[in-house]
Amino acid sequence: MADLYTQIQDEIAKYPDRRSAILPALRHAQEHYGWLSPEALETVADGLELSPAHCLSVASFYDMFFLQPVGDHVVEVCTNLSCALVGSDIVLRAFEEELGVVAPGTTADGKVTLRRVECLGGCGWGPVVSVDEEYQEHFKTEDIAPLISELRATPRPSESHA
Ligand code: FES
Repeated sequence: MADLYTQIQDEIAKYPDRRSAILPALRHAQEHYGWLSPEALETVADGLELSPAHCLSVASFYDMFFLQPVGDHVVEVCTNLSCALVGSDIVLRAFEEELGVVAPGTTADGKVTLRRVECLGGCGWGPVVSVDEEYQEHFKTEDIAPLISELRATPRPSESHA
Protein backbone atom coordinates (compact mmCIF):
# COMPACT_ATOMS: atom_id res chain seq x y z
CA MET A 1 0.00 0.00 0.00
CA ALA A 2 1.27 3.49 -0.86
CA ASP A 3 2.25 5.73 2.01
CA LEU A 4 -0.22 8.39 3.12
CA TYR A 5 1.70 11.28 1.55
CA THR A 6 1.66 9.54 -1.85
CA GLN A 7 -2.02 8.67 -1.52
CA ILE A 8 -2.89 12.30 -0.80
CA GLN A 9 -0.76 13.54 -3.70
CA ASP A 10 -2.49 11.04 -6.01
CA GLU A 11 -5.89 12.38 -4.93
CA ILE A 12 -4.78 16.00 -5.42
CA ALA A 13 -3.70 15.17 -8.98
CA LYS A 14 -7.31 14.28 -9.86
CA TYR A 15 -8.63 17.80 -9.27
CA PRO A 16 -7.90 21.25 -10.72
CA ASP A 17 -7.86 22.68 -7.16
CA ARG A 18 -5.95 20.69 -4.52
CA ARG A 19 -8.51 21.62 -1.84
CA SER A 20 -11.13 19.59 -3.71
CA ALA A 21 -9.31 16.43 -2.63
CA ILE A 22 -10.13 16.98 1.03
CA LEU A 23 -12.68 14.16 1.45
CA PRO A 24 -10.60 11.39 -0.15
CA ALA A 25 -7.52 12.71 1.65
CA LEU A 26 -9.33 12.55 4.99
CA ARG A 27 -10.50 9.07 4.12
CA HIS A 28 -6.95 7.90 3.45
CA ALA A 29 -5.72 9.54 6.65
CA GLN A 30 -8.41 7.79 8.68
CA GLU A 31 -7.51 4.44 7.12
CA HIS A 32 -3.86 5.08 7.92
CA TYR A 33 -4.25 6.26 11.54
CA GLY A 34 -7.51 4.49 12.45
CA TRP A 35 -9.11 7.86 13.25
CA LEU A 36 -8.56 11.53 12.45
CA SER A 37 -5.99 12.23 15.12
CA PRO A 38 -4.33 15.67 15.29
CA GLU A 39 -1.38 14.13 13.44
CA ALA A 40 -3.68 12.78 10.73
CA LEU A 41 -5.36 16.16 10.29
CA GLU A 42 -2.00 17.86 10.12
CA THR A 43 -0.84 15.49 7.39
CA VAL A 44 -3.94 16.22 5.33
CA ALA A 45 -3.65 19.95 5.98
CA ASP A 46 -0.02 19.99 4.86
CA GLY A 47 -0.85 18.11 1.67
CA LEU A 48 -3.77 20.34 0.76
CA GLU A 49 -2.18 23.58 1.97
CA LEU A 50 -5.05 24.18 4.37
CA SER A 51 -5.14 24.60 8.13
CA PRO A 52 -5.77 21.58 10.39
CA ALA A 53 -8.75 23.51 11.80
CA HIS A 54 -10.27 23.76 8.33
CA CYS A 55 -9.78 20.01 7.78
CA LEU A 56 -11.37 19.30 11.17
CA SER A 57 -14.33 21.52 10.36
CA VAL A 58 -14.98 19.57 7.15
CA ALA A 59 -14.49 16.18 8.81
CA SER A 60 -16.83 17.06 11.66
CA PHE A 61 -19.69 17.44 9.18
CA TYR A 62 -19.63 13.76 8.17
CA ASP A 63 -20.55 10.74 10.29
CA MET A 64 -18.07 8.60 8.37
CA PHE A 65 -15.09 10.36 9.93
CA PHE A 66 -13.96 9.42 13.43
CA LEU A 67 -12.80 12.35 15.51
CA GLN A 68 -12.00 10.10 18.47
CA PRO A 69 -10.14 6.76 18.56
CA VAL A 70 -12.34 3.76 17.78
CA GLY A 71 -12.18 0.07 18.58
CA ASP A 72 -11.27 -2.77 16.25
CA HIS A 73 -14.83 -2.86 14.93
CA VAL A 74 -17.33 -0.06 14.51
CA VAL A 75 -21.05 -0.68 14.86
CA GLU A 76 -23.28 2.22 13.86
CA VAL A 77 -27.01 2.32 14.41
CA CYS A 78 -29.06 4.71 12.32
CA THR A 79 -31.57 6.45 14.54
CA ASN A 80 -33.01 8.86 12.00
CA LEU A 81 -36.76 9.07 11.50
CA SER A 82 -37.47 6.10 9.20
CA CYS A 83 -35.34 3.75 11.28
CA ALA A 84 -36.71 5.19 14.53
CA LEU A 85 -40.24 4.36 13.36
CA VAL A 86 -39.30 0.70 13.06
CA GLY A 87 -37.44 0.36 16.35
CA SER A 88 -33.87 1.60 15.96
CA ASP A 89 -33.87 3.03 19.51
CA ILE A 90 -34.68 -0.45 20.84
CA VAL A 91 -31.84 -1.88 18.76
CA LEU A 92 -29.43 0.78 20.01
CA ARG A 93 -30.37 0.17 23.66
CA ALA A 94 -29.95 -3.59 23.17
CA PHE A 95 -26.47 -3.02 21.71
CA GLU A 96 -25.60 -0.81 24.69
CA GLU A 97 -26.70 -3.53 27.11
CA GLU A 98 -24.86 -6.29 25.25
CA LEU A 99 -21.65 -4.26 25.00
CA GLY A 100 -21.84 -2.51 28.38
CA VAL A 101 -21.27 0.92 26.82
CA VAL A 102 -23.35 3.99 26.09
CA ALA A 103 -23.13 5.25 22.49
CA PRO A 104 -20.82 6.75 21.47
CA GLY A 105 -18.51 4.44 23.34
CA THR A 106 -15.93 1.68 23.06
CA THR A 107 -15.83 -1.56 25.03
CA ALA A 108 -13.17 -1.84 27.72
CA ASP A 109 -11.30 -4.45 25.65
CA GLY A 110 -11.15 -2.03 22.69
CA LYS A 111 -12.89 -4.49 20.39
CA VAL A 112 -16.11 -2.66 19.50
CA THR A 113 -17.14 0.97 19.18
CA LEU A 114 -20.87 1.69 19.19
CA ARG A 115 -22.14 4.87 17.57
CA ARG A 116 -25.50 6.42 16.79
CA VAL A 117 -25.52 7.88 13.28
CA GLU A 118 -27.71 9.89 10.97
CA CYS A 119 -29.43 8.42 7.92
CA LEU A 120 -27.40 5.72 6.19
CA GLY A 121 -29.51 5.91 3.05
CA GLY A 122 -31.39 2.65 3.53
CA CYS A 123 -34.57 4.20 4.92
CA GLY A 124 -36.91 1.59 3.40
CA TRP A 125 -35.02 -1.27 5.04
CA GLY A 126 -34.70 -0.13 8.64
CA PRO A 127 -33.51 -0.49 11.21
CA VAL A 128 -30.19 -0.18 9.41
CA VAL A 129 -26.98 -1.06 11.26
CA SER A 130 -23.55 -0.54 9.75
CA VAL A 131 -20.89 -3.02 10.85
CA ASP A 132 -17.43 -2.02 9.69
CA GLU A 133 -19.15 -0.12 6.84
CA GLU A 134 -21.27 -3.07 5.71
CA TYR A 135 -24.95 -2.44 6.07
CA GLN A 136 -27.29 -4.90 7.73
CA GLU A 137 -30.93 -4.15 7.05
CA HIS A 138 -34.12 -4.98 8.97
CA PHE A 139 -31.82 -5.50 11.94
CA LYS A 140 -33.34 -7.34 14.90
CA THR A 141 -32.24 -7.38 18.53
CA GLU A 142 -31.79 -11.16 18.37
CA ASP A 143 -29.04 -10.57 15.78
CA ILE A 144 -26.92 -8.70 18.32
CA ALA A 145 -25.40 -11.46 20.48
CA PRO A 146 -24.15 -13.60 17.57
CA LEU A 147 -22.83 -10.50 15.80
CA ILE A 148 -20.89 -9.34 18.86
CA SER A 149 -19.43 -12.84 19.42
CA GLU A 150 -18.27 -12.87 15.82
CA LEU A 151 -16.72 -9.40 16.07
CA ARG A 152 -14.89 -10.24 19.29
CA ALA A 153 -13.32 -13.22 17.52
CA THR A 154 -12.38 -11.26 14.39
CA PRO A 155 -9.34 -9.00 13.93
CA ARG A 156 -9.66 -5.36 12.87
CA PRO A 157 -10.69 -5.30 9.16
CA SER A 158 -7.46 -3.61 8.06
CA GLU A 159 -5.47 -6.40 9.76
CA SER A 160 -7.51 -9.17 8.15
CA HIS A 161 -6.82 -7.61 4.71
CA ALA A 162 -3.11 -7.18 5.38
S1 FES B 1 -33.41 6.77 8.38
FE1 FES B 1 -32.16 5.03 8.74
S2 FES B 1 -31.28 4.66 6.82
FE2 FES B 1 -32.43 6.45 6.51
